[in-house]
Amino acid sequence: MTDKSRVLIFDTTLRDGEQSPGATMTHDEKLEIAMLLDEMGVDIIEAGFPIASEGDFEAVSDIAKASKNSVIAGLSRANYKDIDRCWEAVKHAAQPRIHTFIGTSPLHRGITNLDPEEMLTRIHDTVTHARNLCDNVQWSAMDAIRTERDYLCRVVECAIKAGATTINIPDTVGYTLPSESADIIAMLLEKVPGADEVVFATHCHNDLGMATANALAAVSAGARQIECTINGLGERAGNTALEEVVMALKVRKDLMPYQTGIDTTKIMHLSRRVAQVSGFPVQFNKAIVGKNAFLHESGIHQDGVLKNVETFEIMRPADIGITETNIAMGKHSGRAALRTKLRDLGFDLADNQLNDVFVRFKALADRKKEIYDDDLIALMTDSAANT
Ligand code: KIV
Ligand code: ZN
Repeated sequence: MTDKSRVLIFDTTLRDGEQSPGATMTHDEKLEIAMLLDEMGVDIIEAGFPIASEGDFEAVSDIAKASKNSVIAGLSRANYKDIDRCWEAVKHAAQPRIHTFIGTSPLHRGITNLDPEEMLTRIHDTVTHARNLCDNVQWSAMDAIRTERDYLCRVVECAIKAGATTINIPDTVGYTLPSESADIIAMLLEKVPGADEVVFATHCHNDLGMATANALAAVSAGARQIECTINGLGERAGNTALEEVVMALKVRKDLMPYQTGIDTTKIMHLSRRVAQVSGFPVQFNKAIVGKNAFLHESGIHQDGVLKNVETFEIMRPADIGITETNIAMGKHSGRAALRTKLRDLGFDLADNQLNDVFVRFKALADRKKEIYDDDLIALMTDSAANT
């Protein structure tokens, strides 16, 4: 990749996201989400784990056949059988990628029962095998953050020499902090021969609520691929949320001068579809896509945004494809917001009429948590009947 300011977005909603307990999606739902991701401008879609099940294999191969713009990746462990199965599924894509991984930390080496030298041989052999099948090979050092730094340099060098084109440095257990996330990428870029020939990826989990911050820190240090999911879906506390990193890069270009290829106006629709098909609702106050993310309820805030939206909004709802109003009517709302809201609903009121409706609106808001458009229309209709 020559443009050093371009950050690739690798979406793993259909693989790591689907690993959230209970988030299983049907074949057609996966295909629909993949097509939406492809249209939105996601650079790489990780469509699944082909060896995991017949269903996963079919989904990855159908997504590979249908994709138009995105690279389609499948996941495989570090063995030939997994890699071959992965290739069988992704090979139909115009731009296929084999993604292979192995746990490199002492804890994970204990599970595979490989000593450090045996692991290097395994990495060399499996990446070479993948590269003989496909030009585009991603290699991940699972639990990279808890891997000894010297050894991490050795495994990364080995994968690069064997032909990996992307090197992923996952924070598998969501343990790192932004400073460490940046240090590790900077160290690898400085110490590993051939590091400037490959793309470094960051893959963060959210166990400490740091996934977005850690991913952005890695980008500041030189990573050029962010692995993420819609709504932050994923194992345990989830993965880096696509909408958060993409909007952070858009809003804070002054501090982070990098671009993605994402059409951000498609974010809200995707978020809602992923919530529906996965059965995982989005929390109300979730950054960017939560129901309340652009709503203003207090009178002071409503008055501010009505006069100058930038007083309390750092991005526009339309930037992520929200077309609804940003005024939430409730007991904290003021007169100015009520007037604007009623005008939107087709009621243009003189001051004395507004005063009257405002009193009754406040009485209603004291009884009811949320005031919907229909409530306001009913209020107006009652007031017309009473005059
Ligand atoms: O979190 C992780 O380490 C992963 C790898 C399989 C890339 O999801
Ligand atoms: Zn993961």
